[in-house]
Amino acid sequence: MNTNRLSKTIEAALNVQMTKEAHASQIYLSYGAWADGQSYGGVANFLFRHAQEERNHMMKILEYILKRGGEVKVAAIPAPPANPSSLNDCFQKIFQHEVDNTTSVYSVVKLSLTEEDWATWNFMQWFVKEQTEEETLALDLLDKFKIAGGDKADHEALYNLDKDMATKPDEAKDARDATADKP
Ligand code: FEO
Repeated sequence: MNTNRLSKTIEAALNVQMTKEAHASQIYLSYGAWADGQSYGGVANFLFRHAQEERNHMMKILEYILKRGGEVKVAAIPAPPANPSSLNDCFQKIFQHEVDNTTSVYSVVKLSLTEEDWATWNFMQWFVKEQTEEETLALDLLDKFKIAGGDKADHEALYNLDKDMATKPDEAKDARDATADKP
């Protein structure tokens, strides 16, 4: 009796996405270590917290595969890319990484649609929403840097930006929660 409720292609795609989330965690971890080394302790704190969040994303997929009777394949995690060259570069790379991850999430959604695997489609909607928030969060970083003066930001502006980052929430606000009273 076949108790695996995932097709082989969906199972493989989910395993790939699971490893991508683990890779994302390593990227945030390495950028966090870089930021701390550059004396941006607040930025590092934010990035380390986000590394944990990416690990949680990985666990969600792992649990889903298991609960559908599928086989989890824990694969090697690719090394994170080279260190950023500046804070601006760091934030830009984070934004690009999240956009790439959104593309990857969408491909799993598309596959589930093609195969009419509504359970996986439904499960992946959490990631669709999460990616919208993650992109917003990354855009916020770029905005913060721009407001601080961009590449011309002085020490005081960077000091304040770094201080803010230590307490920056892990989640961005969802547009769906906005009202006219609470934009
Ligand atoms: Fe798990 Fe930043 O996406």
